[in-house]
Amino acid sequence: MNTVIVAAAILIEDGRVLLTQRKAGGHLAGAWEFPGGKVELGEDPKEALARELHEEVGIFVRVGEIVDVTFHRYDDANKAVLLLFYEVERTAPSPAPQAIDVAALKWGDEGDLDPAQFPPADVAILSKVRRRLGAK
Ligand code: C5P
Repeated sequence: MNTVIVAAAILIEDGRVLLTQRKAGGHLAGAWEFPGGKVELGEDPKEALARELHEEVGIFVRVGEIVDVTFHRYDDANKAVLLLFYEVERTAPSPAPQAIDVAALKWGDEGDLDPAQFPPADVAILSKVRRRLGAK
């Protein structure tokens, strides 16, 4: 079984966190997640995250501190995922996010952080995000 390294963003603005919905047809189709994606071989995870956020939602970001690292084995997809969650912020000239390579996006509040809507690998971080929403 391979382990895929994935970088994902916790982007909070005005007390809401950016969430994207996975496209139909792929792994975990329809799930809401913290946007991000696979770190390519030899790629710096922070650069991978900035690249993915530009490709998927068209924004420019500064990648900040690591918030959490989680590991999850998807036996159904015969892969394991090491997920690196970073705090990110949009840089000044960045446009607002648009759903370019995702099914949909939203600025979520506490009520949107329902574990049933997220990939299993993302569930462990939900309580941390909830605390951050309260703090910002
Ligand atoms: O987004 P992408 O398909 O490149 O991510 C690779 C894999 O990482 C997904 O198939 C999924 O298993 C996992 N993933 C996840 N949570 C995320 C992003 C990706 O579990 N926030």
